[in-house]
Amino acid sequence: MCGIVGYIGKHEAAPIILEGLSKLEYRGYDSTGMAIFDGEKIRIKKSAGRLKVLEELTHGGATMPGVAGIGHTRWATHGVPSDVNAHPHYNEEETIAVVHNGIIENYIPLREKLMSKGYKFTSDTDTEVLAHLIDYYYKGNPLEAITKVMHRVQGSYALGIIFAEHPDQIFAVRKDSPLIVGQNEDGCFIASDVPAILKYTRKVYFIENQEVVRLRADHMHFYNVDEEELPKEPVTIDWDADAAEKGGYEHFMLKEMYEQPKTVTDTLMPRIKDNDIVIEELGMSDEEIRAIRKIFIVACGSAYHTGVTAKYIFEGAARIPVEVDVASEFRYRKPILEEGTMVIVISQSGETADTLAALRESQKLGHKVLGIVNVVGSSIAREADNVMYTWAGPEIAVATTKAYSAQLIALYLLAMKFGKVRGTLAEAEFGSMLEDLKRLPGQIERLLANKERIQRFANRYIGAKDVFFIGRGIDYAISMEGSLKLKEISYIHSEAYAAGELKHGTISLIEEGTLVAAVATQDSLFQKTLSNMVEVKARGAFVLAVTNEGNTDIEKAADYCIYLPKTNQWFTNSLAIIPLQLFGYYVAVGKGCDVDKPRNLAKSVTVE
Ligand code: G6P
Repeated sequence: MCGIVGYIGKHEAAPIILEGLSKLEYRGYDSTGMAIFDGEKIRIKKSAGRLKVLEELTHGGATMPGVAGIGHTRWATHGVPSDVNAHPHYNEEETIAVVHNGIIENYIPLREKLMSKGYKFTSDTDTEVLAHLIDYYYKGNPLEAITKVMHRVQGSYALGIIFAEHPDQIFAVRKDSPLIVGQNEDGCFIASDVPAILKYTRKVYFIENQEVVRLRADHMHFYNVDEEELPKEPVTIDWDADAAEKGGYEHFMLKEMYEQPKTVTDTLMPRIKDNDIVIEELGMSDEEIRAIRKIFIVACGSAYHTGVTAKYIFEGAARIPVEVDVASEFRYRKPILEEGTMVIVISQSGETADTLAALRESQKLGHKVLGIVNVVGSSIAREADNVMYTWAGPEIAVATTKAYSAQLIALYLLAMKFGKVRGTLAEAEFGSMLEDLKRLPGQIERLLANKERIQRFANRYIGAKDVFFIGRGIDYAISMEGSLKLKEISYIHSEAYAAGELKHGTISLIEEGTLVAAVATQDSLFQKTLSNMVEVKARGAFVLAVTNEGNTDIEKAADYCIYLPKTNQWFTNSLAIIPLQLFGYYVAVGKGCDVDKPRNLAKSVTVE
């Protein structure tokens, strides 16, 4: 969702901002804009559409001279994507400019109040309220005006602000939307995320909730909402700068799919020691693990799907009842968290608004929360009581692949650890599962090597209208993710069904040639799923089957088969998802879709 970049320093600001915004494109956006102080006044250029429109409009930034500025990619919430609604927004005198990521919840009463004082609005956005409200409170001291606004507004915001009367400063403000600042010897930077400024600096500061930063060319000061100065230590980002580049791949998504063997290894191996699982960051004693009576897993999107998979493993291997909930539902349904309930939230970005809210809700109810998070230093990572990182590195494509695979590994490790400590997982089985885990990276590599075969198959389905994914147990969880991958990037309608449920209505949609992808990796459920495949095939479906090597019986009911290397029944998701990711990817490529930046979607959903 919306991306913010700001710069003040020795160099021209516009090209730096444009480049930074290009590194935030993955967040999802529909319009862009920049405000630069040119020595005389603040100039704004903005436009609906892709960043290249802004680049053309400003000749790569050359027509917007100046060494201080802010820029924005907007993902529309209030008001359609248009030139007028694009950020930055001015006050009436055009002496203050604001970019915003988040939602101002009380913008209607604020807007009415400002209109009654004579302020005129030109856009439909909630953000414009901020520009006028800052103007209303501004009496020459920017910090004072900003903190007064922070007391008045409700909702979430990350802001970049410039004042024509203070051209040697830019301001960054944050509450519940991500924002970082960074510095090098030539200037200071604001960004929604690290990749935007990684080229310039690795020294970044995480801004906490309700903090303001005043950035000058050579230093930064941090303040709380009472204008008191705060001490702050920088964090050094140790990513390889290439990690956030495409590195010769056609799309980030393809590159990230290919990184999965490494991601799995990096999440797995540091936690396997002397044939045991050691999760130091868990912060739980064996006694506490034995005392768990129930687990709540809360997440959104693909992270939710990993939770659905984990339910089977926690219940099967550790005999702990698990409830999995979509975070946007959990937060408002008054969940019953009894004593002995452990809460796990899962998030790649660590910034998903609903997941963060679910975490806070659980803590409010007196429960400790374990976060399984990819982005180091993100809000969920900072607020969770304990954090288990998935070491997937930066994930840029909107459709998650490698972070999803890493989340699965983290959950397998937890479930196995719990099973062992609680005595529900026999020593021998634990040992053989460890061996299976270690084999996963190589097996994923083998499946990826088969990509041409999947590509040929995918090319036959670029014209598909509906696709159904079916499976039972863990295979149902895999189906959910396979279906999401296809629909989010190729815009083909697809649905996942528990295989036995299909005939309760949805089977009526099966026509001659409808593609049904059946996942059948669970030995105990194999025959049942096979029957469901026969049912859809009898009604004209074309059946794609994903099953384990050796299950050649499936060929009786399938038109096309993909075989997976042998692994433990609880780990099959890690393998079955690979061909399904490739299938979604190649259908989208075949259709000419913008694979890394699908329409209407955002990588990091920072509004509810
Ligand atoms: C968005 C992304 C998904 C992701 C979901 C949850 O919808 O496009 O890929 O699974 O958010 O995000 P999180 O960062 O919390 O894992």
